[in-house]
Amino acid sequence: MSSSSALTDRASLFDDVLARLGDAVSTPAPIVLIDVVADNIARMQAFAHEHGKQLSPHVKTHKSVRIGKMQLDAGAAGLTAGNLSEAEIFAAAGCADIFLAYPLWAVGTKATRLKRLLQNTRLSVGADSTAAIDRLAEAAGEFAGLLGIVVEIDCGAERSGVPPEEAGRLAAYARSSGLVPVGVFTYPGHGNAVRKPMGAAADQALALRNAVASLAEHGIEAHKVSAGSTPTARLCTDPVITEIRPGEYVFNDFDNLRIGDCEASDIGLFVASTVVSDQGHEHVILDAGAKALSREGDPDRGYGRVPGYEGRLSQLNEYHGFLQLPERNARPGVGQRVAIVPHHVCPIVNSFEELIIANSHGEPIDRCPVDAQGKLN
Ligand SMILES: Cc1ncc(COP(=O)(O)O)c(C=O)c1O
Repeated sequence: MSSSSALTDRASLFDDVLARLGDAVSTPAPIVLIDVVADNIARMQAFAHEHGKQLSPHVKTHKSVRIGKMQLDAGAAGLTAGNLSEAEIFAAAGCADIFLAYPLWAVGTKATRLKRLLQNTRLSVGADSTAAIDRLAEAAGEFAGLLGIVVEIDCGAERSGVPPEEAGRLAAYARSSGLVPVGVFTYPGHGNAVRKPMGAAADQALALRNAVASLAEHGIEAHKVSAGSTPTARLCTDPVITEIRPGEYVFNDFDNLRIGDCEASDIGLFVASTVVSDQGHEHVILDAGAKALSREGDPDRGYGRVPGYEGRLSQLNEYHGFLQLPERNARPGVGQRVAIVPHHVCPIVNSFEELIIANSHGEPIDRCPVDAQGKLN
């Protein structure tokens, strides 16, 4: 079954939720099916448990303390943050172990904030250069001995990260700067495409093994060997890996469905939207544009799918979404509410102050703040 047809099976549930929410929800709005989310959390936790891995979910996907707490309550060892604000917000909410998996450049107010955070949270931070390690050591000052450094290595994504064989040199440099080298991490971003997760997961395990060996050459034991990404998470069975950091798995999206990483029934967030114009073109206009969905993606792949309609959201202006409709397709009328399943779910939460929480029987429950919304530094 194609991923679009798999989504069609969810159309009646999503429509049901929309009908029950009615006009009480102003569109566009992100709707979270909380029991789907709870199942996604439980399944990933069970995988981690079964394979003896720590789970440190990346909070960028939900940016919400309430959902972070669901992950911790289910057994997550800690949380992964993408920036200092996320680390601060989740630490303030009581998360005792935070990994800022990013090559932080700790100067100015970031240096002050990092030092403050260090004093009440077990914090580790990514680094992939001696210059960044110098900044981190200066920022931490007398608390340097509390700051864990996780050397970032590149396993093929060509984003940040040093080659695995250089990891030991950086870890030793961190140690000589008074910081605490705790291990290595990588992000297999080159696995986010059809049929690529297997290869990326293999690259990731090999790179991590080489990096651990490189630390050992400098007499440093890697306690944290951290692997990333939702598409590769369940392929992270290599014994060298101590921790997995998936983020998207909590909601899932059309891209995860397309690569076979989830079922349509695992999609836990959609964007409620209203058809606001139909001028008889090959598309109708929805009220969810780039401000709501972000422009991540491209017109061919699309920016989102509407279960029950075969077309894709092929173009976004700031407040207008173009839902393409093949000629034979049914047409949603002006005023009709539709559910958009985004291609990539993570940017969505950053557009909204709150998530609307419903259960998968379609019953609305309450609202949940997106605590780290808009916090980009
Ligand atoms: C450093 C890092 N770790 C973990 C993740 C989580 O991966 P995913 O979004 O596939 O769940 C990301 C995603 O961008 C990341 O950049």
